[in-house]
Amino acid sequence: MSIPSPRKLFVTTALPYANGAFHIGHIMEYIQADIWVRFQRMQGNEVNFVGADDAHGAPIMIAAEKANVTPQQFVANIAAGRKQYLDGFHIAFDNWHSTDGEENHELSREIYRRLRDDAGLITTKTVEQFYDPVKEMFLPDRYIKGECPKCGAKDQYGDSCEVCSAVYAATELIHPYSTLTGATPVRKSSEHYFFRLSDPKCGAFLREWALDPKRLQPEVANKAREWLEGDNGLGDWDISRDAPYFGIEIPDAPGKYFYVWLDAPIGYLASLKNYFNKTGRDYDAFMADPDTEQYHFIGKDITYFHTLFWPAMLHFAGLKTPNNVFVHGFITVSGEKMSKSRGTGISPLRYLEIGMNPEWLRYYIAAKLSAKVEDVDFNPDDFVARVNSDLIGKYINIASRAAGFIAKRFDGRVATGWATTSDPFLFRLRDAAETIGTLYENREYGKALRAVMEEADAVNAYVDANKPWELAKDPAKEAALQEVCSRLLEAFRIMTIYLKPVLPELARQVEALLNIEALAWGDVDRPLPDGHRVNAYTHLMTRVDPKMLDRLFDVPETAGAPAAAVAPVTNGAAAAGAAPAQSDIEAIAPEIQIGDFSKVDLRIAKIVACEAVEGSDKLLRLTLDAGEGRLRNVFSGIKSSYQPEQLVGKLTVLVANLAPRKMKFGISEGMVLAASAADEKANPGIYILNPWPGAQPGMRVS
Ligand code: 2FM
Ligand code: ZN
Repeated sequence: MSIPSPRKLFVTTALPYANGAFHIGHIMEYIQADIWVRFQRMQGNEVNFVGADDAHGAPIMIAAEKANVTPQQFVANIAAGRKQYLDGFHIAFDNWHSTDGEENHELSREIYRRLRDDAGLITTKTVEQFYDPVKEMFLPDRYIKGECPKCGAKDQYGDSCEVCSAVYAATELIHPYSTLTGATPVRKSSEHYFFRLSDPKCGAFLREWALDPKRLQPEVANKAREWLEGDNGLGDWDISRDAPYFGIEIPDAPGKYFYVWLDAPIGYLASLKNYFNKTGRDYDAFMADPDTEQYHFIGKDITYFHTLFWPAMLHFAGLKTPNNVFVHGFITVSGEKMSKSRGTGISPLRYLEIGMNPEWLRYYIAAKLSAKVEDVDFNPDDFVARVNSDLIGKYINIASRAAGFIAKRFDGRVATGWATTSDPFLFRLRDAAETIGTLYENREYGKALRAVMEEADAVNAYVDANKPWELAKDPAKEAALQEVCSRLLEAFRIMTIYLKPVLPELARQVEALLNIEALAWGDVDRPLPDGHRVNAYTHLMTRVDPKMLDRLFDVPETAGAPAAAVAPVTNGAAAAGAAPAQSDIEAIAPEIQIGDFSKVDLRIAKIVACEAVEGSDKLLRLTLDAGEGRLRNVFSGIKSSYQPEQLVGKLTVLVANLAPRKMKFGISEGMVLAASAADEKANPGIYILNPWPGAQPGMRVS
């Protein structure tokens, strides 16, 4: 592969909103970008790989208010939780920043001024919107509900109806109300700032940028063509929001803030600038250098912002435009769509907490990724098969066959006098470097890994043909054993180079085993020197136990029952009127403060439907109404104690703010409380809680 050396790269992933933990979709994107970055670094290229939290906008402001903290404190709390995920999955960002950082405030204002003063692309228009008179703020559509203008369904959002799928403007809702205060919104006008994308020079530039055949992925270019060449052309873009808003105030426009999507991508530049400032480098010189290449990895849902608004903003502000935007699809789990807003699917933290190896996931995701914008499906059986048969069965197997003999029989010394560049055994392995490198470069990771596994098949065929375990039995074949095992270790070293972008930690262990410096791509042609001493073989990677996948998806088989029995309470006399102490009650949990308890949002919920779950002998599926204007699906391990029809119409208590859990049978959106005895044999009953008459769905239990 001929790549001008060394390239200077600026690489980003989409900036996640600072209102929740990472979900598996974020991790997939970071793994995709991280593999590309690591590949580039192995080529000797300079890579500056940065991310940041997308801190601004009304939802974050409102979430902070509900949590009773400032928005700054709120986003700082979210930021504090990022490292465990990034380190956990070996994502090697050089910097992580925030769009509320001072660099972003400055850069956003500067870019805006240039768009206004130099390019003449900012204008103002009067816009009429719904306004909450109690909260004294303009309401984004998501905070307005009312009756559907088409079918009359109650409690529908301001943009579309979940019952009849009609799409409409918030102002068309019948009996609209603010979901923030319940007040009836009023129509109110205010002046908004617009980026004049309708100006012909914007269309002309974007056609040149987005439709350059060497740039976007074909599916993305087609979309861009539709947007650019559609009948209506590009409309002006509303880039302002009125106070109160958590964001960056617009220069010379008191009380007006940049819409979050204006300053979010500028956060890419801000994070890079923050990184350069911290490391004493010259940001302006780097970005002014025509050789600097800029790439953004993003999900397909935000293509419009990145292929139209963002390049136009940069170009008309006189700045470098992205070399490319790499768009990926969503991740589905066993064919089911994940909900970004509910954060359902595989919990990345749970994956790590139950001791699953992060490199299994990196390998699996890489094996399923291509340069297309197609969705990636996480399928548990496929996951186990690919990791166990390919990664362990084919690749790790090679080292485990050879390294032990070298360590025990030859004092760790390899014999590689044969390993000239023309050695036929190594020829095809080395020759694959170009093909595999090009596949990584083009983000065709699935194909790259298939190519590596084909090499592994060839090497395993060599193992079977030469049977080192047989050679080891014959003292006359010592030299042959050393040579065969040395060839295998050399083959393993080369394959490790090919897999290193995907498996950086494993590669580090292999480097320690082989007693060599960090491997770069060019080391393919530099074999272990003859007589080089490797270290004793230690186990490199374990197989996936399929039971782990069950734990990843499905945990609570008994709702409300503690996971482990603890010592019974034995001391303490019964107080007057109290029943005598039970010898088998579980010890009371460590003391908590009222603040700890108030984090748990318990609500009265009505069981509107209930049915047995096919395939489970413990679970019932409950459909609950907690007064939210929607129904929840909750699985509960109470089948042994209740017939479904007994429960319909009853009230119970729901843990309403429990993160949704993906279970074998679907998503559980909360948990109902139930009592059970510590000694299940003595009393196997499970008793769900039922409030006194008068309680209504939605009431908080405190
Ligand atoms: O869709 C999102 O999650 C946005 N926070 C992505 C922003 S990407 C960039 F523009 F900052
Ligand atoms: Zn409707």
